[in-house]
Amino acid sequence: MSAIITARDVGQDYEVGRGPFRKAMALQAVREASFTVEEGETLAIVGESGCGKSTLARMLTLIETPTRGDLVIDGLPVTQGDPSTAKRLRSTVQIVFQNPYGALNPRQKVGAILEEPLKINTKLPAAERRRKALAMLAQVGLRPEHIDRYPHMFSGGQRQRIAIARAIILEPKILILDEPVSALDVSIQAQVLNLLQDLQERLGLTYVFISHDLSVVRHVANRVMVMYLGRPVELAPVSALYETPLHPYTQALLSATPATRPADRATRIRLTGELPSPFAPPPGCSFNPRCPLANERCRTERPVLKPHGASQVACFAVDEGRISLN
Ligand SMILES: Nc1ncnc2c1ncn2[C@@H]1O[C@H](COP(=O)(O)OP(=O)(O)OP(=O)(O)O)[C@@H](O)[C@H]1O
Ligand SMILES: [Mg+2]
Repeated sequence: MSAIITARDVGQDYEVGRGPFRKAMALQAVREASFTVEEGETLAIVGESGCGKSTLARMLTLIETPTRGDLVIDGLPVTQGDPSTAKRLRSTVQIVFQNPYGALNPRQKVGAILEEPLKINTKLPAAERRRKALAMLAQVGLRPEHIDRYPHMFSGGQRQRIAIARAIILEPKILILDEPVSALDVSIQAQVLNLLQDLQERLGLTYVFISHDLSVVRHVANRVMVMYLGRPVELAPVSALYETPLHPYTQALLSATPATRPADRATRIRLTGELPSPFAPPPGCSFNPRCPLANERCRTERPVLKPHGASQVACFAVDEGRISLN
């Protein structure tokens, strides 16, 4: 396997709150994100609301350029925001959003929705565009007559299928899936997840799968990256993450999810306290105010990701053997 995405110390800062009599405040939405995505794999990104998952997704799909670090996608560096690189990568990486209602233009028929990326990015004649749109509908399990309907005539699951069809019509190599099933009924979630798995095998796609649902991630991911306050804190193969979670935050997340909580882990680490403000992250390890294992070093020094078995983890308690690992 080889890396199709390489991120080194990637970060995104936002300026917020600038006004006539107010200075802007800097918000570090993503910091020091270093990871790879291997060709053909599914890398899941998990973490609480506001930890920077969607910000990372927007950088990976070139909606935003990183303000720090190096990002290489399919061999092309995108960090400098060179528009020609962005254009070349436009068809390589596509995104599917959480909300299939907001993502589809209600005034356009499905045919127009699917053909739009082809109109913008290719010179295909109209008949050929229509043929491709019909082929995509079939790929996602919809019928040819659906092409002349409007989004409101579909169920949530069907709308997400349309969004997926639109995402694959330019034959991308990578799909960024930002909470692709979170808005759907549980019974429909499995169908859409199966479709995604199917498409991945058939089309050889690479997925970055963003979710806050650890029971879903377990079934779809090859590797998982856990983020906390904008930073990756653990990156591990799926089996290692669920069987021997290393970071206290990962352990807390798993303990909080009934489906992923082994009996003996029920009382291990509970997530207490509030998520700190992203405007004023705590010094040292960002997790230290909520961590039962934090010591003086954790409150002053910031840990970085270090290899530990098949995983990588940013935690002094793990480095120093202060954490019991089963
Ligand atoms: N365009 C923006 N301008 C200013 N701040 C932003 C912007 N987008 C995101 N943020 C902030 O950056 C941080 C990360 O947000 P992001 O949307 O990436 O989190 P998330 O992990 O996707 O959360 P959720 O699970 O709720 O979708 C948050 O503090 C958010 O308020
Ligand atoms: Mg988000």
